[in-house]
Amino acid sequence: MPDTRWWPRSTCYQIYVRSFADSDGDGVGDLAGVTSRLPYLAELGVDAVWLTPFYSSPQADHGYDVSDYCDVDPLFGTLADFDALLTQAHGLALKVMVDIVPNHSSDEHVWFKAALAAAPGSRERARYLFRDGRGAGGAEPPNNWQSNFGGPAWTRVPDGQWYLHLFDSGQPDFDWTNPEVGDEFERVLRFWLDRGVDGFRIDVAHGMVKADGLPDLTAEQLAAEGGELLETLGEAARPFWDQPGTHDIYRRWHSVLADYDGDRMAIAEAWVGDAEAMARYLRPDELQQAFNFHWLMAPWSAQALREVVEHTFRATRPVGAWPTWVLSNHDVVRAASRLGDGAVGPARARAGLLAMLALPGSTYLYQGEELGLPQVDVAPEDRQDPEFRNGRGVGRDGCRVPLPWTTADNGTAHGFSPPGAADPWLPQPAGWGQWSAQAQEGDASSTLAFVRTALRLRREMLDSLSDEVQLHAVDDDALVIRREGSTGAGGLVCVLNCGATAVTLASLGLDAADVLIATSADAVADAALQPNTAAWFTVR
Ligand code: NOJ
Ligand code: MG
Repeated sequence: MPDTRWWPRSTCYQIYVRSFADSDGDGVGDLAGVTSRLPYLAELGVDAVWLTPFYSSPQADHGYDVSDYCDVDPLFGTLADFDALLTQAHGLALKVMVDIVPNHSSDEHVWFKAALAAAPGSRERARYLFRDGRGAGGAEPPNNWQSNFGGPAWTRVPDGQWYLHLFDSGQPDFDWTNPEVGDEFERVLRFWLDRGVDGFRIDVAHGMVKADGLPDLTAEQLAAEGGELLETLGEAARPFWDQPGTHDIYRRWHSVLADYDGDRMAIAEAWVGDAEAMARYLRPDELQQAFNFHWLMAPWSAQALREVVEHTFRATRPVGAWPTWVLSNHDVVRAASRLGDGAVGPARARAGLLAMLALPGSTYLYQGEELGLPQVDVAPEDRQDPEFRNGRGVGRDGCRVPLPWTTADNGTAHGFSPPGAADPWLPQPAGWGQWSAQAQEGDASSTLAFVRTALRLRREMLDSLSDEVQLHAVDDDALVIRREGSTGAGGLVCVLNCGATAVTLASLGLDAADVLIATSADAVADAALQPNTAAWFTVR
């Protein structure tokens, strides 16, 4: 029986709603803006979209602070706008995933407001993690945990108790040991499933359960706090990450999803230490997918990337799970800037993308990745991210600048907004129009043309390629990914050159005549694959 579920081999496009398209001219992207651009995404060749949070929210963390999980914030539109988006997407054969934020709510959620109004020890407080402080008069936080955005993870309320927030103080953590919380989230899941969504992206999916007694971090753990996200992955366990009880939540969510038509799914945003920990979220009675952040974080080395792929399959195959591949999202520096300086970064971003599109499983693209957008150096006075406001680095605004759609600005922020609109919520830098979809349209050498072609080829080959993959790394420089074709159809070899010198095709048994796609016109030259490029070859 062929697997007809929509998500195992899908390509999903992440829409950071605030920055995608603004229909009403307030300078902030919205749902009607998304709907207006869905034909562009269908033409790009993706299978699904993931919408970042558009729910009622004071926007302390740009929507990851939800005050009503079952309504749309007026900033982004209405529930009717959501329904229209969903109908239009389904009409274009695009699946729609929404973001669910179960670790914390907004401090303006009715439950949290009720908790503040109620006394310590009340039923209202028991939905969150309120505790008495330590030291004289309880003036010290209950433990030494630090917020992910910097500073203590606790804020004191007027009656002297403290509440836990692993992120901004406007994002109080729920107490998932309280059955009311689980029941409420089942209601939220069903609300969106009943409306017709195809899946969920689960925010901080590894954080909901905290170790009993909320124990202090050790001195060593504490010293490692505050590092870059990319460095902290893989560190020793924390009493608030990846606790065993988390999996009980997903067993329940699995059965909620299964109540529908058998083809709804959820993907975990779980920054866990290794592929084995990731695969625990993918056991048959848990979630369908988890972001494979080890791919995103791997250094630019064929050996390192090969190990990530091998570990991923070694961990996911035994539980019967499908892997995912991701290079960019709204929390990390854009790949075109992260992977190297000058022309090297953009070249590597294309090459990394082509390699991940060659792997079995599902791929996640972040808006603007198809345009090759660079990270923007947002001026300090323009920065909005709570990570910056709380003193933890420059923040994540640089990958969230509103998309350019047209070459000319014309008072529309390069087509992001309608004419006469307010300024975009983050300023676009000079020259932003050169990256626009319009500027790249019709240019065969553009990133947009490259991504469209790669997605089309991937789709065409999907049914004939084996989901088994053979890998080898040549002299630590090149990663070779090989998948056999089914009877009568050609197989695929993807070569990614991470090294500093060209790799001859003859050394790999390949021929320039068999190139299906390459990351640039000169990637395959002199019968060799040049550094920082990748190409697909058809093999018989
Ligand atoms: C992960 C989200 O991707 C990020 O943007 C957000 O700040 C945190 N979770 C907190 O919700
Ligand atoms: Mg708007």
